Amino acid sequence: MSLFHRKKEVSLPTERLLPQHIGIIMDGNGRWAKRRGLPRQAGHGYGARVFRTITKYCEKIGIRYVTVYAFSTENWRRPQEEVDAIMNLLRDYLRESLRDFQKENIRTRFIGEREALAPDIRALIEEAESSTAHKTGMVLNIALNYGGRDELVHAMRSLAEEVKAGRLSPEEIDETRISDRLYTAGQPDPDMILRPSGEYRLSNFMIWQAAYSEYVFQDILWPDYRQKDLDAALEEYARRNRRFGGI
Ligand code: IPE
Ligand code: IPE
Ligand code: MG
Repeated sequence: MSLFHRKKEVSLPTERLLPQHIGIIMDGNGRWAKRRGLPRQAGHGYGARVFRTITKYCEKIGIRYVTVYAFSTENWRRPQEEVDAIMNLLRDYLRESLRDFQKENIRTRFIGEREALAPDIRALIEEAESSTAHKTGMVLNIALNYGGRDELVHAMRSLAEEVKAGRLSPEEIDETRISDRLYTAGQPDPDMILRPSGEYRLSNFMIWQAAYSEYVFQDILWPDYRQKDLDAALEEYARRNRRFGGI
């Protein structure tokens, strides 16, 4: 049962009903830059700054899990120059976070297929994860080379291997066993998924986990996204009536 429901049961009418897990599709960097006559890469730079402030704000207000979509399995289709710029921003973030984020009580994790990433990025990711593994505050999942379908393919392969080895029968495959093989194993599903930039789609983000998520689409480009926009999304979320198929 989500925090939303527990809070509702104890009826705290004036208190904000916070989602336990927020998914954020950080979109609109390229359009933001283009409107200013800047190269798309500049938009990613501003977007990276917004990512830092918004995730810290989430931790401050008591959100337990945040998953940000940083780079999809489909984003490799972009020009090499843009992909390189995004990977360089990631390097900067990781190096900086290894120094500065030690102050934060945030546990950083990466979800997505790592094999395709540069070896130095993989090493930085592992360091970021291991050096924050003991943190007790918010869990921050950074979705990098992540695709919801790719995640399900991996889960299905792993189940098939177990069936083949005789450790599992097909009848034993259920929703829990599938969830347990996703990158987000052990975490609650996102209660709310935010997508700024005016696009109304998931673009392969957490397609299994999003079964009962509340979507909040906002017509703001990610580099313009501020704390007040998150507050507005949280207010919208608190007004929703989640039924999960019941009445
Ligand atoms: C999101 O911004 C960042 C990534 C996908 C890496 P975009 O780069 O998609 O920006 P738009 O949607 O083209 O404006
Ligand atoms: C989704 O945005 C991926 C990320 C934000 C990392 P895209 O910009 O890649 O999605 P589409 O192409 O508009 O669906
Ligand atoms: Mg986009």
